[in-house]
Amino acid sequence: MHRAALSSLALQGMYLFLQRLRRCNISVSVAVAATVGLTAPHAAAQIIADGQRFTPVQAREHMVVAQEAQAAMVGREILRAGGNAVDAAIATGFALAVTLPRAGNIGGGGFMVIKPADGEATTIDFRETAPASADKDMFLGPDGEADPQLSRSSGLGVGVPGTVAGFQMALDRYGSGNFTLADLVTPAIEIAEQGFVVSPRLASALRLPRIRERLDAEPEAQRMFYRDGEPPEAGEILTMPVLAQTLSRIRDEGPAGFYEGPVAEAIAATVQQLGGRMTVQDLAAYEPIERAPVTGTFKDYTIISMPPPSSGGVHLIQMLNIIEDAPFGTFGMNSAEMIHTMAEAAKYAYADRSVHLGDPDFSDIPIAELTSKDYAATIAALINPTAATPSTEIAADPGRLPTESDETTHYSVVDDNRMAVSVTYTLNFSFGVGFAAEGTGVLLNNELDDFSAKPGTPNAYGLIGGAANAVEPRKRPLSSMTPTILLKDGELFMVTGSPGGSRIITTVMQIILNATVHRRDIMTSTTAPRVHHQWLPDYIRIEEGISFDTIRLLEEKGHDVRTQRSMGATQTIVVGSDGLLYGASDPRAPGGMAAGD
Ligand code: GLY
Repeated sequence: MHRAALSSLALQGMYLFLQRLRRCNISVSVAVAATVGLTAPHAAAQIIADGQRFTPVQAREHMVVAQEAQAAMVGREILRAGGNAVDAAIATGFALAVTLPRAGNIGGGGFMVIKPADGEATTIDFRETAPASADKDMFLGPDGEADPQLSRSSGLGVGVPGTVAGFQMALDRYGSGNFTLADLVTPAIEIAEQGFVVSPRLASALRLPRIRERLDAEPEAQRMFYRDGEPPEAGEILTMPVLAQTLSRIRDEGPAGFYEGPVAEAIAATVQQLGGRMTVQDLAAYEPIERAPVTGTFKDYTIISMPPPSSGGVHLIQMLNIIEDAPFGTFGMNSAEMIHTMAEAAKYAYADRSVHLGDPDFSDIPIAELTSKDYAATIAALINPTAATPSTEIAADPGRLPTESDETTHYSVVDDNRMAVSVTYTLNFSFGVGFAAEGTGVLLNNELDDFSAKPGTPNAYGLIGGAANAVEPRKRPLSSMTPTILLKDGELFMVTGSPGGSRIITTVMQIILNATVHRRDIMTSTTAPRVHHQWLPDYIRIEEGISFDTIRLLEEKGHDVRTQRSMGATQTIVVGSDGLLYGASDPRAPGGMAAGD
């Protein structure tokens, strides 16, 4: 019944709509804007704070915000057909595996934070694992030094994927009961079979030399994205018939269609051909884990976020604790004082990350200590308001942490009952390791690059890591993904998260600060320029838009300030004081959508 409803309502409508636009030669971004305008009318008078520059998308009943519009609409159709936020999140996740192949996935893993309408929040950890035969020296070259080629571009870097098993666990425990996994994967199959409109962003990504060199060099990935060596143009329809077959196996057999039989055999064979060690037994043994969230408070808000093996929630709460007593009203958003305070807090948090964080099933992670108000107070007392503390003075013996690519993706869902789901999942690098498993259309991750290949050695992005994140059999690598839910006075207030590698945690911190103590609506909060410090390297990264005199004031405090390309792509829903939903898909990554009713 639901499958039929989905076909008629969602897919045919969406597909015909996109085809019509294509015939009219209207670009995808215009399509998205038009759809947003049609389905989620702006309400100029409905603002949640003073001094707004932008108007978020508004909805009364439910909303999905994702980095790709068609996948957001798939989730909305599930909500329209009586699904809850978990059902919609699963359908959106499967659809993104087709329409956002750089990060949406079934060949990777991630985290889901769930806040039921009534009841305790929880999380599903579907992070990839190292194979059973992994060892701590797996990513070292003959000279005994970390060899990034091994962890990023060979089969050794591929973790056992977790997405399909994680979705099944979330559905079994927190779905509405109205839909099966088969129902929820069906829209993705139909999009893969019928095709989707290639966005300008996907077309450009497939032309980037660093992407093309990887994808176009490998037969399965080449067949998926290139015709006679040429990538599709923006606006063309791209079909994924082989991926559709794999998704159909999941529809027909459930997770066994992925973790056992021909798909599992193809994944293991491809990984081994590429020099990796993953076996069909590793795939059959994969298990997602339901974990209690990490929680904290900030002012009147309760923060619910992802615990280890993500570092995101722990350090988000730690940084918010450190700066909680700052005079936000005096400082103001993105003043030199505010940026200085955030940067100093981040230095201490990322220094702690380098020593303490890893898979909690393999070492004791001092979560309670790191997220305590007392510990934060001792750090806050060390922050000099007039001068930057050099990072070298913050930790005596820093180990070098690995870093994460910024090609992750996030989506947020709120349903009619105000159940909320926050999902961040990833292949690590853009299009993962750059290989798809032969005959499956499944792009594989290179998530094991997130381990500390050699504690004390920096990886390409400069994050630092220690023994708690060393490679071990069946272990999960440390992540920065920070899917987060905020309550205010016990009621749902915000669902948010972002891609951005090491910048995810500071990005989520800033969107929370902007929408709470800085009192901005969620679109203004989203578009405000972002800043980032991660302890090492010792400089503040800023986006275009921070004024020259602010930069000068920061430099007078001793900061090295460097402008860099945009950071993050938040996908956020806020519940306004009027009870309505306000959504913002970050324009830093065009093509996203807040789809609501
Ligand atoms: N690979 C990105 C992350 O897990 O943070």
